[in-house]
Amino acid sequence: MANVVVVGAQWGDEGKGKIVDWLSEQADIVVRFQGGHNAGHTLVVGSNVYKLSLLPSGVVRPNTLGVIGNGVVLDPYALVSEIERITGQGVEVSRKNLRVADNATLILSLHRELDALREDGAPGTKIGTTKRGIGPAYEDKVGRRAIRLMDLSEPDNLGPKIERLLAHHNALRRGFGLPEIAEKTIYDELTGIADKVLPYQDTVWRLLDEARRAGKRILFEGAQGALLDVDHGTYPFVTSSNTVAGQAATGSGLGPGAVGYVLGIAKAYTTRVGEGPFPTELFDEDGRLIGERGHEFGTVTGRQRRCGWFDACLVRQTVRTSGIDGIALTKLDVLDGFKEIRICTAYDLDGTRLDHLPASQGAQQRVVPVYETFQGWEGTTAGARSWSELPAQAIKYVRRIEELIGAPVALLSTSPERDDTILMHNPFED
Ligand code: IMP
Repeated sequence: MANVVVVGAQWGDEGKGKIVDWLSEQADIVVRFQGGHNAGHTLVVGSNVYKLSLLPSGVVRPNTLGVIGNGVVLDPYALVSEIERITGQGVEVSRKNLRVADNATLILSLHRELDALREDGAPGTKIGTTKRGIGPAYEDKVGRRAIRLMDLSEPDNLGPKIERLLAHHNALRRGFGLPEIAEKTIYDELTGIADKVLPYQDTVWRLLDEARRAGKRILFEGAQGALLDVDHGTYPFVTSSNTVAGQAATGSGLGPGAVGYVLGIAKAYTTRVGEGPFPTELFDEDGRLIGERGHEFGTVTGRQRRCGWFDACLVRQTVRTSGIDGIALTKLDVLDGFKEIRICTAYDLDGTRLDHLPASQGAQQRVVPVYETFQGWEGTTAGARSWSELPAQAIKYVRRIEELIGAPVALLSTSPERDDTILMHNPFED
């Protein structure tokens, strides 16, 4: 039985929620493998609307296990408040439907504070983060001084770990002119929440391996998008985790062969939140209209998203760095009514034609998109549930995207409604 990994093929906010929601209905287990509560998506199950950040989508479905893998950075307070919120909506959360990797790294208050401090600090250093402490927590993980979930079950051994962590952070804080943090403050913060999160801890790699051997269907739920990947994205304007599909294996403790079908989610245009290069960004009426029609405001921070034309060059790159087998193309209906639509097919860098975005920060700022212009379509794609309901010109647009990115469109989403989807290929039936 195939497993499926869902990754964003652009800069996040591609409409993964709706697709993951549909796929999670067919899955036995839904696994988060990177990021943290910087993600945000809305799930509609029957008449209930759930807003999730950290919890895997499976949690709200009966008979589906949600798993938070080792690749996630876990703010225990955010986890508990999210659990309380959905419990208030009638979803019972227990070990029956949620497990968290015992080796997941914790986000502490000092990480949130440092994230915000850096963002509001020296001019020119702003990344536009979500200020959730994601980056600083990953830094401590790689710096081998992080506190991990299982450490909470050994409070007697916490002291030296906190001391080691604070040796680093208090030095930083002195540099920022901030008061130092006492060991007891962090100890109290951790022991104050331990009883509420420890019940979910598990040896996740083992649990997933057994599930896989038993033929269970696993859905790996990516957060953010491949262009925010710390290695393959628009560095330094990226998140601090690997967001490409390969991370599904590392971030959950399975081998690469377990991942299965890679479904990339891409909008029929492009958006990004935060700072950083965005070659096809629009600053005109077209951009404003896309933002307005697409309701392009961040679910986590409420920030207005930057909007632009579809960048086939970037998605083609993502198709390769994530090994994408098929694309779910979302929000096609937002382009209804445009007289002309453009697709970026290549870049011009100082007179040289490029078929990819170069890694250098300076070059990323200088590339000029090379566009192909399409006539828009009359009529609407909104709510279409079959190819035959789509205007011929819209089909031409989708076919051209497939050709340019080198991957087929497996699903086409034509409205936020769950059933307004044209299915060409079910990734679980690959
Ligand atoms: P961080 O993940 O909070 O460190 O933010 C780093 C960058 O990733 C910023 O540009 C954020 O706007 C962006 N980012 C983080 N999470 C998301 C997401 O879920 N959707 C879109 N962008 C995100």
